[in-house]
Amino acid sequence: MTSFICSKCGRKFPLGSKAFKCSCGGLFDLKFEPHFPIANIEQRPHNMWRYREALPIESDRSIVTMSEGYTPLIEEEICGKNVFIKMDHLLPTGSYKDRGASLLVSYAREHQVSSLVEDSSGNAGCSIAAYSARAGISCEIFVPDHTSVGKLRQIEAYGSKVRLVEGSREDVSRKILEQTKENFYASHVYNPLFLHGTKTLAFEICEQLGWKSPGAIVVPVGNGTLLLGASIGFGELYSAGIVDHLPKIIAVQAENCAPLLRAFEMNQKDSADVNAEATVSEGIAIEKPVRGAQILKAVRDSGGTFVGVSEQEIIETWKEMSKRGHFVEPTSAATIAGLKKYISKTDPNETIASVFTGHGLKTACELFSWNKQ
Ligand SMILES: Cc1ncc(COP(=O)(O)O)c(C=O)c1O
Ligand SMILES: [Zn+2]
Repeated sequence: MTSFICSKCGRKFPLGSKAFKCSCGGLFDLKFEPHFPIANIEQRPHNMWRYREALPIESDRSIVTMSEGYTPLIEEEICGKNVFIKMDHLLPTGSYKDRGASLLVSYAREHQVSSLVEDSSGNAGCSIAAYSARAGISCEIFVPDHTSVGKLRQIEAYGSKVRLVEGSREDVSRKILEQTKENFYASHVYNPLFLHGTKTLAFEICEQLGWKSPGAIVVPVGNGTLLLGASIGFGELYSAGIVDHLPKIIAVQAENCAPLLRAFEMNQKDSADVNAEATVSEGIAIEKPVRGAQILKAVRDSGGTFVGVSEQEIIETWKEMSKRGHFVEPTSAATIAGLKKYISKTDPNETIASVFTGHGLKTACELFSWNKQ
């Protein structure tokens, strides 16, 4: 039976449990057995719910959807090499987080939640706000006070309350823990249901490649909700015998805030203490990633690595992508800057997939000023 399971002590908690982590302090993972009836899947509408038997929602009536998923997988020439890029900035709210939000808000509806809270650097807040609006669930989003104005307006447009918290992303996380006693905490970081939404990115990449895994996948990492979701997704397809290998996971961090890159370099099990500086890639500006140890393990087990990118490399790559017609947000430009570095070191025959995680319109006001630099 599907349940939460503590990653530290192994204790099980039923779905619908109010707790968002174990009493021992351990994080929840999900115990769940997915199925992949390929012939049926291929007949279904082109969205993430085509993998219905691999998504841990009991009743179809609980599903909150805007037909998200099955974004185009384009081929783009980067540094002289053809790379596959998943266009997740084209999802309903403009970021990949819609995959996780569709699943997590469906779970909230399944468990009769009427109000929820969430903390975010912006995009997860936009997604949870949009899907809550669609489900008729009241929603409050806690964000750092320096969040891009476009994301704040977007959250408000969906009818959610925005709570601006002074300080860093970590201050926001501390603040919300005071609110989680009365409200359902729809956390994209703590609640593993979110990762079981983002894992559909891996399913789609494999299906779009003819049910094959790429040799490597290059993803941005802050709290790791895309990276860990991808790792679960490829792992499930591998365990089901659908793909014959797992891709190397190449994780990109901004040099200005790189606790996981530093831990990887120093062979540490959990994220390193860093004095983070500001970065234009606000989506991955996470100084203390809650699932740091899991992220490091997933990258190491895959035979992958971490890549750091400077502010200048991010801005240059953002300009380059824009000139090609791809209007993405800086966090996505950071990913492609990392991809370029990775390409220069790896086997030229390796099949590489990456992702545009967020739309440029989200940060258009902020970007406008750099374009003049
Ligand atoms: C556009 C974009 N890309 C990537 C990420 C990184 O996701 P995560 O923090 O889950 O690693 C985020 C997170 O907010 C984001 O907004
Ligand atoms: Zn425990």
